Amino acid sequence: MGGKVQIFDTTLRDGEQVPGCGLNKKEKIIITEALEELGVDIIEAGFPISSPGDFESVKAIAETVNNATVCALSRAVKKDIECAAESLRKAKYPRIHTGIGTSDQHVFTKLKISKEKVLEKARDCVSYAKKFVDDVEFYAEDAGRTDNDFLAQVIQEAVKAGATVVNIPDTTGYCLPEEYGQKIKYLVDHVDGIENVTISTHCHNDLGLSTANSIAGIQNGARQIECTINGVGERAGNTSLEEVVMVMRKHKGLNFDTNINTQNLYPISRLVSETMNMPVQANKAIVGSNAFAHSSGIHQDGVIKNRDNYEIIDPAEVGVNKSSIILTARSGRAALNFRLGQIGVVLNKSELEETYQRFLRLADDINVVDDPELKELVGAYAHITV
Ligand code: KIV
Ligand code: ZN
Repeated sequence: MGGKVQIFDTTLRDGEQVPGCGLNKKEKIIITEALEELGVDIIEAGFPISSPGDFESVKAIAETVNNATVCALSRAVKKDIECAAESLRKAKYPRIHTGIGTSDQHVFTKLKISKEKVLEKARDCVSYAKKFVDDVEFYAEDAGRTDNDFLAQVIQEAVKAGATVVNIPDTTGYCLPEEYGQKIKYLVDHVDGIENVTISTHCHNDLGLSTANSIAGIQNGARQIECTINGVGERAGNTSLEEVVMVMRKHKGLNFDTNINTQNLYPISRLVSETMNMPVQANKAIVGSNAFAHSSGIHQDGVIKNRDNYEIIDPAEVGVNKSSIILTARSGRAALNFRLGQIGVVLNKSELEETYQRFLRLADDINVVDDPELKELVGAYAHITV
């Protein structure tokens, strides 16, 4: 168990599908370059058949990328696959990602075909894509709600037809972690030849379980995680890249490793947020603006004494300058003294006490006390500023 987990970034495909998050070619290239620096293994560049603009973007990304595999999405349709292949012509490491819905819901109410036909299409789309590239990833859309026995039959067809990667999407974010993990295990146990292909997770976040489900996936045999920066994506989003990477890094006992340069996580989070015009919630794990901010007196006192009391990640590890002590009416004397020290003010005990009482009244009024207000507050002690 354990080993290297491939990070497949789909910010530019699944992430970019979000209304209002659309990117032009230039913006996609900027993000592509940042993704390469981050160290992702696969960049899903787009869905080329969807529009001429997307086709051109995938083509430009394929020409730009040096080390990562560039992937293009297609349905199990010949003209989609041809278009994906054409867009990837200049890629050093091209991958076509093709597939079909497999749950009863998708088969009977979306595709409106028989299950036998699904098996045939799974086989055919992989065989057709293999005519253009060696590296073919097959997805079983809505695998999360697909009966495991039928899913294994579909994946068996894809493996026999030469798929190099099989993607098991929890398209609707429905699965519980144990259930999703068992699904991966079921495929490991029931599909002949699956040991020669990479199993991939692709979990959506409708119930807030995408990170837990992806980790359950790798604990049961998957070795690729599909994810996006800041977890952007359809509806409640995709698995958040920064979260799964840091789970693996922090839980050394899991024995998993990635090629990600974690110091780039915060900078790329800001870049994607600004370029996509998609704010990151303040309390978002790893990259939210409050992820390393402490505001209650008890926590502040603990962090000032030893960061490890309340932080499991050194902010520098993910590219954040430092943890911050936010001064509010819940802060204690230790925090006030610490922040005064940061602006070069040293007070004796009675001066600190007197300032603290005035600070509390001010903080009750304005909520957060920043450096300018702090300087005003200690104006009377300006003579002892160091
Ligand atoms: O969520 C999903 O099922 C997908 C597939 C197209 C891979 O994005
Ligand atoms: Zn998806």
